[in-house]
Amino acid sequence: MADRDKIDINYLYSKKAEGEKISWLTAYDYPMAKYEEEAGIEMILVGDSGGMTQLGYDSTLPVTMDEMTMMTKAVTRATETTFVVGDMPYMSYQPDRSEAIKNAGRFMGECGTDAVKLEGGRRMAPTVEAIVNAGIPVVGHIGMTPQSAALLGGYKSQGRDAETAKGLIADARALEDAGSFAILLEAVPTRVAKIIYEESQVPIYGIGAGKHVDGQLLIAHDILGLFELFKPRFVKRYAALGRDMVDAVARFKEEVKGGEFPDPEHSYGMPDEEYDKLV
Ligand code: KIV
Repeated sequence: MADRDKIDINYLYSKKAEGEKISWLTAYDYPMAKYEEEAGIEMILVGDSGGMTQLGYDSTLPVTMDEMTMMTKAVTRATETTFVVGDMPYMSYQPDRSEAIKNAGRFMGECGTDAVKLEGGRRMAPTVEAIVNAGIPVVGHIGMTPQSAALLGGYKSQGRDAETAKGLIADARALEDAGSFAILLEAVPTRVAKIIYEESQVPIYGIGAGKHVDGQLLIAHDILGLFELFKPRFVKRYAALGRDMVDAVARFKEEVKGGEFPDPEHSYGMPDEEYDKLV
């Protein structure tokens, strides 16, 4: 457990005021969340990316509310002071506002998160407003929004021409006006993120949005080398745990085949007198 008070929205706003960047990673299970809190990470996103990194789907679209709640509860059980954000999965908020409020409420009430995140700008602003009016803090998410990849023409960075960049700036304004307490920008040019950052009152966080934002999010499996199917440009690898796992498992197999495992150190003994009674 990190030696600090519970992180809340006031903390996030005070860090913005002080110009101190926030560190934010995904986690989808108990051990990952525990290690992240021990390392001092301030925010955890239980992302629907867990559908790919953890559950093996080939996109985030199949992820259900039940799968999200299972992963989210494991994370909130593991954390005491970290600010945990639950990611609303595909079709848990798009079709209907009252369903959106109920599902956001499941993250808060059933899973114990501190906030929810949902994808979409101007089109989703009325839904954000409805959830906020129900007393639930919302992080807006714009730019490359994976749940709309089919509409965006794939997993591509967004806002690279003046026209679409203006659209992103308008999306950020609409989300702030709708009551989002923070906005996440994914895969947008550094210059566009800077404009949004400079004109927003709420914290602006980035994943692939350059350095002129209030904090950085990355997917833990990407930085730790636990997901190797593809690597977006913005991902920096800090470890190769997947390769370490393969090596460790292969060594175990070799030792089993060669009879080196288990050795006496990893086996239970029995006093001679008891053994003598037995044979
Ligand atoms: O699900 C997730 O991890 C996300 C990030 C990619 C922003 O939404």
